Amino acid sequence: MKESAFTEADTEALFDDRERDQRFRSFWHPDGSLHWGYFENLADARPEDFAPACDRWDKYMLEQSGITAESRVLEIACGNGNAAIWLAQQTGCEVVGIDISSSYIDNARSKASNFPSLRVTFQKESATNLPFENGSFTHAWSQGALYHIHELNTALAEAHRVLGSGGIFLFDDLTTPVEEVSETSRKYVYDRLLFSPTFSLKEYAETLTQLGFRVLQQKDMSKHLEKSYELVHELAREEYADMSAAFKKTQEVIASNELGWCFFLCEKV
Ligand SMILES: C[S@@+](CC[C@H](N)C(=O)[O-])C[C@H]1O[C@@H](n2cnc3c(N)ncnc32)[C@H](O)[C@@H]1O
Repeated sequence: MKESAFTEADTEALFDDRERDQRFRSFWHPDGSLHWGYFENLADARPEDFAPACDRWDKYMLEQSGITAESRVLEIACGNGNAAIWLAQQTGCEVVGIDISSSYIDNARSKASNFPSLRVTFQKESATNLPFENGSFTHAWSQGALYHIHELNTALAEAHRVLGSGGIFLFDDLTTPVEEVSETSRKYVYDRLLFSPTFSLKEYAETLTQLGFRVLQQKDMSKHLEKSYELVHELAREEYADMSAAFKKTQEVIASNELGWCFFLCEKV
């Protein structure tokens, strides 16, 4: 695992920026969800298909997860809390969402207060140092976030520690399919998102296995990532030309195989 040039404080400041959150809500997803889309119609998806495709990804993960009303789920890097609240609504499970950003945790708590019957709580914590007992969750869930965690191996080990035996860890994350990335990729994609080149799909699977997980499912989602950036490029174009240009570059970097997207479903053995 390559060391990150960025710090947790940099990441916290990025996501605590309330103006940035509002900007993303205007074109990415109105609820403040910040992950990528899973398209039914990959070849001819249009900008208006993007937000529904993000919601479709939630549904896909839930279908794979085996989460029921008896489950106790940890959402790692829950952002504005949408998936945590939705999971509790869909299944009746208990969810604890953690995130490093206090402004996202405030937003998540405020949204959850509209649904007092749900068993959902949010805490400002780092994924690298979870304040939970060993074996205290049946599931750990994460979307579009682990690449932001600079000590990723520590966070993966923490997810393993807090799961009970047979517990399920399911997540999607970015990958670096190549050994070396170009200067353009580094400048317009990696540095913009404050992360350093990370695991390939194969390295990710090996790391999870070494940490004591059995990989039950792995999926290369890169085509869906590429389509996501093609569409957010369109969606941001009128109001946020600079950001739209950065999304176009990101699409190109994915097409050239210097950035990918993966899904893993693992069991703690
Ligand atoms: C792109 S957002 C995704 C948020 C959410 N999962 C979603 O799909 O909307 C990435 C999130 O990772 C969080 N994050 C980054 N580093 C973290 C850390 N060390 N511990 C917990 N959360 C972290 C950020 O604050 C941010 O909310």
